[in-house]
Amino acid sequence: MGEKGELRAVDWEDGRVVLIDQTRLPLEEVYLRLRRWQEVRDAIRSMRVRGAPAIGIAAAYGVVLAARQGGLGEVERACQELEKARPTAVNLSWAVGRMREAAREAAEDSLFEQLLTEAHRMAREQDEADRAIGRLGAELLPPRCRVLTHCNAGGLATYSFGTALGVIKEGFRRGKVRFVWVDETRPLLQGARLTAWELRREGVDMAVICDNMAGHLISRGEVDVVITGADRIAANGDTANKIGTYTLAVLAHRHGIPFYVAAPLSTLDLDLPDGSLIPIEDRDPGEVTVCGGMRTVPEGVAARNFAFDVTPAELITGIVTEMGVARPPYRESLSSLARG
Ligand code: MRU
Repeated sequence: MGEKGELRAVDWEDGRVVLIDQTRLPLEEVYLRLRRWQEVRDAIRSMRVRGAPAIGIAAAYGVVLAARQGGLGEVERACQELEKARPTAVNLSWAVGRMREAAREAAEDSLFEQLLTEAHRMAREQDEADRAIGRLGAELLPPRCRVLTHCNAGGLATYSFGTALGVIKEGFRRGKVRFVWVDETRPLLQGARLTAWELRREGVDMAVICDNMAGHLISRGEVDVVITGADRIAANGDTANKIGTYTLAVLAHRHGIPFYVAAPLSTLDLDLPDGSLIPIEDRDPGEVTVCGGMRTVPEGVAARNFAFDVTPAELITGIVTEMGVARPPYRESLSSLARG
C-alpha cells in the first residue's frame, strides 16, 4: 500500500500478516510483518491496527498464523485471546466466530489452507460491503454538501475503502461532497492523523477541527450532514462508536441536520436489545494525560479514557449497510436487512 497503491489496512504476504502501523501515521508509513498470532493480538490491543472491521480481519489472519504455529489446539487458544483483545467492536468476536466454525469444518491436514481461504473470503466480503455502503450512502447526500465526520471509518478501519469515509469518498467522486470537516478525535487523533491522511490521498477539500468546534460550525449552518461509523449496533438501533459521536448526534438533532451511521451487517449485534448492554472500552488514562509524548495534565491528577459512547437510535436518521439503508423503527428495519 502507499500513495501509489490501493489502501490495505490488513494484508497477507509470504505467510505473514502485514499491517500498516496506524500509530505511526501520518508521519511515517511503517509496515509490520507478523508471524505469530500473539503479535496480531498485541497489534490490536495497542491500536497499530484499529477500526471495527479491520480488527476482525486482522484477528482472522491471526487465527491462520495459529494453525501454522500449533494446529487445532493453538487455533482455539488464539481464538480465545484474539476475541477479547478489544471489547466494544462486535466485528472482532464475529470474525473469530467464523474462523472457529471454519476450523471445526476443516480436515486436519488442510487446516491452514482452509483457514486462509476463509480469512481471504472475509477480506473480500468487507471490500464488497464497503463499496456497496459507499454507493448507497452517496445517494443520500444532499448536492454539493459539507460533511462532518468523526474518528476514522475509512479503509484503514475496514480493509480497503471504508464505511462512513467510503460514503464521503464516493460522494466526492460524484461531485456531491464539496467539503469535509474532520473532527480531530481526542485522545488518539484518528481523525486528524488517519482520516485526513486518507482524504488527502483522494484530493478531497477538508479542514481538521478540534472536537469542541463542531457545535460552533453546526450552529452557523456550515455543516449539511454528519456521518460516522459504528463499532456495535444493538437490535433497537442504539449505536456505539468512537467517544464524541453521541455529542455530534445531539448537535445534529438540535440543528435539524441528518445524522447517518454507516456500517456493515457484521457490526450488528441483534442479540443485544439495546445500547445499554454494549461493553464500553475503558483505556489507559495515560492516553489522555500525555499528548504527542508531552504530559499535558499535572502529575498526580486522575483522568478517564472511555473509548466509545452510545448514540440512542432516536437521534439516528438512517443506518447505511451493504444491503440497504435502515430507517426507524430500527428493530424491524435492521432485522429485515440482516435476514437478507
Ligand atoms: O478506537 P478505534 O480507533 O478502533 O475506533 C474506531 C471507530 O470508532 C470507528 O468509527 C468504527 O470502528 C467504525 S470503522 C469502519
